Formats: sequence, C-alpha cells, structure tokens
Amino acid sequence: MSLRLGDVAPDFTTNTTEGTINFHQWLGNSWGVLFSHPADYTPVCTTELGMVARIKAEFAKRNVKVIAVSVDPLDSHHGWIKDINDTQRCTMNFPIIADESREVAFAYDMIHPNADDKATVRSVFIIGPDKKIKLTLTYPASTGRNFAEILRVIDSLQLTANYKVATPADWQKGQDCIVSPAVSDNDAQKLFPKGVRNVKPYLRYTPQPNA
Ligand code: BEZ
Repeated sequence: MSLRLGDVAPDFTTNTTEGTINFHQWLGNSWGVLFSHPADYTPVCTTELGMVARIKAEFAKRNVKVIAVSVDPLDSHHGWIKDINDTQRCTMNFPIIADESREVAFAYDMIHPNADDKATVRSVFIIGPDKKIKLTLTYPASTGRNFAEILRVIDSLQLTANYKVATPADWQKGQDCIVSPAVSDNDAQKLFPKGVRNVKPYLRYTPQPNA
C-alpha cells in the first residue's frame, strides 16, 4: 500500500556506501530526505546525486540528513561514485542504499510497474524528527528533480511546525506568510506582533514570525 502524509516512515536496516544503517537510528532527531533513483550509471541520476552532494551543507543547516536509494549493488555504487565525483564538481558525502533485495523500494512503493517493473521511479520522502512522512513526490525517470524546491518545502515545513502559519504559492524564506485559517482575528493580533494584513476574512498575511 502506498504511504500517506502523517504515516510513520517504514524503518529498515540496510547496506549503504557508508556502512550498515538502521534508518530510524541513523535519522536520530534530524529531519530526513530519502530519495530513489532508477539505476546507477545513468545520466540524470548522476546530475541529481552531484547536485545534492554540492548543496549538502544547505540540508545540514536545516538539520536534515539525506540518503539516496537505488536497487543496484554496493560495488556498482562505489564505481559510480567515482564518475559522479569526476563529472559533477563534487565529493560524494552522503550514503546511497544498495537495495538489491528491493526491501526499501517495496516498503516505500518506489516501483511503479506500469512505468518500469524493475527500476524505482524518482521518489522523494521528507521525514520529520517524529519519523512521520511530511511530503511525498514522484517524478518519472526522464525528469531530474529540483532540489531547491525540496529545500524550500523543508523551510516551509519547519516554519509551519512551529508557528500557526501556512506559506503561499512560490513562497521563499523571509517572505510574508499566511495566518492559519484556524486562528481567530483576536488571537492573530496576539500571536503575530509584527502585524496582520487582512485581504479577505480568510486571507490574512503576516511577516515571517521568526525572520
Ligand atoms: C537517468 O538517470 O538518466 C535515467 C534513468 C532511467 C531512465 C531514463 C533516464
């Protein structure tokens, strides 16, 4: 069955390029991004892993650990990492799961047989410190993901976990937020001392509370 937002992210113990990892233990109190790749030695995946390695500090700044999964074996991953480092101006700095048994792929419903019956699609799971799934994304093999968007969603998730706000279309860190519809006008005045701008009774903006 497919996983839904709010579900506990399935736990697993598996071989990775950085040794054996128990997923929940490895996450600890961090947020996590688990993302899958169709196969090693493929062009789009090579650029994606390179990109994530180059911006790993951005994830770390947000207390997020990143981990990739592909169903190819460990020796293949290690050979491919040399190519990634050679071609993507990076040094690989996060684990890739060798999911030969497809345990992780099946647990996270990453194989979509009508797209490909063996390889995983490009799935992304953002997992909170409570181990619950906060976001899922599914991209086809032919489209590389936008990791700036994933960082943007993490910024929104971390903000909305702590303040009674939501974030509007295309929101970027530092921009005005939307007051949660569940907050009364009276409470909004108290909760958001930077001010509340009422556009409609259901559309109220406030400066980002923690900016
Ligand atoms: C790629 O990563 O380039 C790729 C993988 C599978 C199918 C198509 C492209």
